Amino acid sequence: MITVVVVGSQGQIGKEISRIHTMFPELNVLAYTRDELDITNMLNIKTRLITDNPKYVINCSAYTDVVGAETNEDKANEINCEGVGYLAEVCGLIGATLIHFSTDYIFDGMKDGYYLEDDKANPLNKYGMSKYKGEEKITGLHDKHFIIRTSWVYSHYEGNFVHTILNKMIKDKSVKVVSDQYGSPTSATDLAKLALRICDIESDKYGTYHFSSNSNLNWYTFADMIKRFGIYYVDIDCTVKPIITKKLKASVKRPYNVIFNCDKIIDTLGKDIELDFDWLESLSESMYLRFKGKIEIDCELQHLLKDESTIAKLYRKIENLEKRLENRD
Ligand SMILES: NC(=O)c1ccc[n+]([C@@H]2O[C@H](COP(=O)([O-])OP(=O)(O)OC[C@H]3O[C@@H](n4cnc5c(N)ncnc54)[C@H](OP(=O)(O)O)[C@@H]3O)[C@@H](O)[C@H]2O)c1
Repeated sequence: MITVVVVGSQGQIGKEISRIHTMFPELNVLAYTRDELDITNMLNIKTRLITDNPKYVINCSAYTDVVGAETNEDKANEINCEGVGYLAEVCGLIGATLIHFSTDYIFDGMKDGYYLEDDKANPLNKYGMSKYKGEEKITGLHDKHFIIRTSWVYSHYEGNFVHTILNKMIKDKSVKVVSDQYGSPTSATDLAKLALRICDIESDKYGTYHFSSNSNLNWYTFADMIKRFGIYYVDIDCTVKPIITKKLKASVKRPYNVIFNCDKIIDTLGKDIELDFDWLESLSESMYLRFKGKIEIDCELQHLLKDESTIAKLYRKIENLEKRLENRD
């Protein structure tokens, strides 16, 4: 058995790892909440990791409040930089490989073209800067690492764009969504599988990688697609309208256009492990889990769930979609 410690088990990716890890029978996964393993507490990390002696540590913890980081810079740095450094140091001490997630927000989004791993970082906000400093801590302290940069993470849990916009669409007659910021929505399930597969094959192809879905969307087109899937499950009578960033008077600068070039991860790891990239399949899976899965359906949404025949229709649609995708090449 390969022992894997998961840090930050109550976040989107952390929860997905806890939900799906039984697909990997060779992995002995020990998942810890913030209370059980606080990455800002060196003694806590040492005690846990020396006792568990894992081969891999997957860090799903982070300070992810982009707006909050502007006024809480110290907190963001304490978790995303200093804490990550402690983790890297202890992984070095026990010889464990650290798998860590970073973000598209380390870039300024001004590049004309897809971002490569060694493109120059230039974070526009404090969250992005704290994540970039975290990456530097890892690369400076411990060679055995995988830094997975990803973007626009969503899941069927609360606290992400898909969940929030769906709630708004169900309650409101119209929603305005930004149409001039582009990126690639990436499912927490796909990220969880990626991390577990790296552990499962005991990969030693260390380094920094870009991993996101095969999409290039703005938030408005993403919201529109969420609505198209959503109507198979719930009543939505809402118009989605585009709005440009300038009109929003946002308090935090965000990159306009970060699309990753994912060739490095495909070329390096793609031969050994399946990489899930298809954004439509991933989104449909997430929507299914949100509404039909037993996990977390908001009480107020439950009565809006449509009947089984509607669900069956959705299945057929997904099946057709999958067939089309299979035949695409
Ligand atoms: N969300 C995105 O769109 C996005 C995009 C690109 C990259 N990423 C990166 O992907 C990773 C996972 O993101 P996510 O969306 O899954 O995050 P998330 O849902 O916000 O979860 C983060 C988790 O970290 C935990 N945490 C915070 N401080 C901690 C500490 N000191 N010790 C231990 N755990 C602590 C939190 O615990 P509590 O539950 O107790 O607060 C929370 O469960 C992060 O590295 C993030 O930067 C995210």
